[in-house]
Amino acid sequence: MIEALGVRKTYPGRPVLRGVDLMVQEGETLAIIGGSGCGKSTFLKCVIGLVRPDSGSIKVDGTDITRLTRESEIAMYRRRFGYLFQEAALFDSLSVWENVTFGLRYLTNIPAHRYRAIARDKLALVGLKDVEDLRPSELSGGMKKRVALARAIAAEPSYILYDEPTTGLDPIMSDVINDLILDLQKALGTTAIVVTHDMKSAYKVASRIAMIHEGRVLAAAHPEIIKITNDPYIRQFVDGLSQGPIKMKLKEFEPETAEPAGKGGGR
Ligand SMILES: Nc1ncnc2c1ncn2[C@@H]1O[C@H](COP(=O)(O)OP(=O)(O)OP(=O)(O)O)[C@@H](O)[C@H]1O
Ligand SMILES: [Mg+2]
Repeated sequence: MIEALGVRKTYPGRPVLRGVDLMVQEGETLAIIGGSGCGKSTFLKCVIGLVRPDSGSIKVDGTDITRLTRESEIAMYRRRFGYLFQEAALFDSLSVWENVTFGLRYLTNIPAHRYRAIARDKLALVGLKDVEDLRPSELSGGMKKRVALARAIAAEPSYILYDEPTTGLDPIMSDVINDLILDLQKALGTTAIVVTHDMKSAYKVASRIAMIHEGRVLAAAHPEIIKITNDPYIRQFVDGLSQGPIKMKLKEFEPETAEPAGKGGGR
């Protein structure tokens, strides 16, 4: 279980997270949506300990990453996670199969002679065949994304953080990836956070969808609720409209600067 409370992060001169409260139950897939630059990737990086919040806590199975200081403790904490970087972040000097299995020596006791076969299996899951010996520079953008996805799931982690898993993929491949996320959740009981702009994907894979706006969570609700909400900000976002109001907020958690009551219909 992941439990984030009051997570704040300001980059120099730029407040990003202003008190994010989010709970992800074991076996749940939480989708995070929100405008570009609202801090979704920053939040995932806080969860995995790549970015340290200014304040707040993020507990995973009771361990608060914000309180860990020793490299060895942080490394141990990270072993539970698979992480799909938004930009794929493959090593250019390594082949595809070496990229996919890069973490296995740190995360598992699997003997090295099995890595190539594991890479082939994981690549097949993301719809890639006969690419093991290619270099990242020889792949299309969507292929890189899928190789990075194969790497994120290679060690079969208990938690997977997906940063825009379907961005840059064609609609059919996007759905293959959605099915993969669902299959991992069903077969392995994976707990996941999926950051996405792809509402079709969010509706399909998520047990709840949380929207971040102005550094806080506006709403965290079942996809069917999000689909029918009348909240103008959420409507504007999910319907992809350039025009919209947007001071009204739906809240699951009440931040310090609460809006007047009675505005948050539709939940
Ligand atoms: N390392 C950094 N140093 C300074 N500012 C940063 C850094 N990383 C992110 N930011 C800023 O923080 C804000 C949030 O960035 P973040 O990448 O978390 O957004 P996002 O919600 O993931 O956006 P997108 O949907 O475009 O991926 C942006 O204004 C960005 O410029
Ligand atoms: Mg991002």
